[in-house]
Amino acid sequence: MSLIIKAAIAWAPERPFTIETCELADPGPGEALVRIAACGICHTDLAVKQQHVPIPLPMVLGHEGAGVIERLGPDMDGFAIGDHVVLSFAACGACPDCHDGHPAFCDQFLPLNLAGAREGGSGITHGGAPLNGHFFAQSAFASHALAARSNMVKVDKDLPLALLAPLGCGIQTGMGTVLNSLRPAAGESLAVFGAGSVGLAGVIAGVIAGCSSIIAVDVKPERLALARAVGATHVVDGARGDAVEAIRAVTGGRGAHCSFDTTGVPPVAAQAFRCLRKRGRSAYVAAPPAGTVYGVDAYDLLNSGGSIRGVIEGDAVPAEFIPEMVAHFRAGRLPLEKLVSPYPFARINDAVRDTESGAALKAVLVME
Ligand SMILES: NC(=O)c1ccc[n+]([C@@H]2O[C@H](COP(=O)([O-])OP(=O)(O)OC[C@H]3O[C@@H](n4cnc5c(N)ncnc54)[C@H](O)[C@@H]3O)[C@@H](O)[C@H]2O)c1
Ligand SMILES: [Zn+2]
Ligand SMILES: [Zn+2]
Repeated sequence: MSLIIKAAIAWAPERPFTIETCELADPGPGEALVRIAACGICHTDLAVKQQHVPIPLPMVLGHEGAGVIERLGPDMDGFAIGDHVVLSFAACGACPDCHDGHPAFCDQFLPLNLAGAREGGSGITHGGAPLNGHFFAQSAFASHALAARSNMVKVDKDLPLALLAPLGCGIQTGMGTVLNSLRPAAGESLAVFGAGSVGLAGVIAGVIAGCSSIIAVDVKPERLALARAVGATHVVDGARGDAVEAIRAVTGGRGAHCSFDTTGVPPVAAQAFRCLRKRGRSAYVAAPPAGTVYGVDAYDLLNSGGSIRGVIEGDAVPAEFIPEMVAHFRAGRLPLEKLVSPYPFARINDAVRDTESGAALKAVLVME
């Protein structure tokens, strides 16, 4: 028996989202119907709406959902109606990278998440016409979503779902890139380029890892102030002088052990490599327009022994990493309340505008 729901439809790049009455199918095997309490907005949602990622519209987006299980399909042992869940990305569970514990590099990552592949279609219809959806196995810009067992992570019922929602993508990406990929040892230095939600989650992870110097680079003074508030030991305004020199100056002239680019701006990404000390590690997570090329001098690469790594979703296993982040939140080490700006679902277009302008660091739509 399908359910009548409210969902925000992305129609076309220049058209605002409209919240419409839609129908959602019953959960199939390995799925649950989740009443969405809140959903963060990530730049990937906007990239699809803008058609920088060409997935056919109209579509229901949203991939940082959190909510409460209302119905369970078959084969859902371990989950119960009423469970609170944070929704993350889906993976096949069967390919070599899933087996090795790296589901963000699953063979099926693009079809399962970007294209929303699901047996029988997205499960969402509008006036009887099928809509694209099941984005990241959720499409959570909606009152309800069908989620897959591989992307649902249970959380305690006393936790605020509106703060936890962005753990599913943006915060996981920032914290996971530092804690799972760069893995700074206590006392090492970390430079973070771009102090948005992903970069600041990286700064917070640097504090947790015990980094001695955490240098945040941005071009917006308010973002640099927030970086300091969440634990950056130094901030650099990239618009006023050479960030590489500034980073060398605070790391005894040698450069940073680790660096993290979240800007996707090629000259900045190049600085994220050049600011490293010998054998330093750099990680890149931004999603710039297709065709973007980052440059590195061949001899800098050779002589430095440095490493360069692209990272999706913090190379995390959500079922393990989301509980880890929740434990940091409970212990006061992950101040999500400093990053999140809540918006009522009805104000989705204001939240999108503020995400695009940078006025909101991490806008979260609150459904109820
Ligand atoms: N790899 C993944 O799995 C994954 C997951 C989530 C998000 N992302 C991507 O990560 C990126 C960052 O996401 P976000 O939410 O933090 O975005 P954001 O826009 O909030 O943050 C980017 C920051 O970079 C700063 N910046 C821009 N130009 C700069 C420059 N020249 N020098 C220094 N700083 C500059 C901006 O002021 C901003 O604060 C986006 O591209 C997003 O699509 C990737
Ligand atoms: Zn995302
Ligand atoms: Zn896989």
